[in-house]
Amino acid sequence: MKRAALWGTWAVMLVVAVGVAYWAAASLLKEREAPVSIPPETVANYVHAVIDANRTVYTRHIVEKMQATGVVEAAETWKQENALPLPAQFLIETGKLMAEKGVGIRYRLASLTPIYVWNGPTTDFERKGLEAVLKHPERPFTGFFRTGRDRYFQAIYADVAVSQACVACHNTHMNSPRRDYKLHDVMGGIVITIPVNP
Ligand code: HEC
Repeated sequence: MKRAALWGTWAVMLVVAVGVAYWAAASLLKEREAPVSIPPETVANYVHAVIDANRTVYTRHIVEKMQATGVVEAAETWKQENALPLPAQFLIETGKLMAEKGVGIRYRLASLTPIYVWNGPTTDFERKGLEAVLKHPERPFTGFFRTGRDRYFQAIYADVAVSQACVACHNTHMNSPRRDYKLHDVMGGIVITIPVNP
């Protein structure tokens, strides 16, 4: 009887030991798995989400609040005046700063009917993308392109007139080539470019 109990204890210890060894081996193996590679579509989605969140917070909690409380207005000529940049300019400016950092990712705001020509499509791909998101704003237009030896992934996300302010300003801006925007119309796109060289 005593002997049987001893064997029982040994058996339990063995099972526990095998379990611990298995767990340790499994965690070691997990750490040695192939390096993680994130698809460029996913990276672009992450970047887009950050850009979007920043612009929304800037618009709602800075521009709108400052204007409502009479502290300071947002104006296109913010560089020359005591004014805040417009949300579109905020996005464009952060995009420019990002490009200067030389990390490779670029982004900008573009449109087929831009207030300024420099916000128009610069390649055939961008033109196609901006046309595509006009028809299908729910999904980004994506693809690869090459410049010299460098390969890039580009994603174009619809930029929608989410408030009447977008519509009112673009429809009345003296430089705007399009003046019939309505609420929820696609006004352009956020173009994100990611280098994908090995
Ligand atoms: C008070 C005026 C104003 C408001 C409000 C405004 N925009 Fe603009 N938007 C501009 C100006 C000015 C530019 C050009 C900025 C530049 O290139 O310096 C611009 C640029 C853009 C562009 C790039 C193409 C272009 O027209 O040059 C898009 C797309 C755009 N805005 C979408 C929007 C959306 C969407 C909203 C609302 C969420 C919005 N805008 C609100 C004035 C405005």
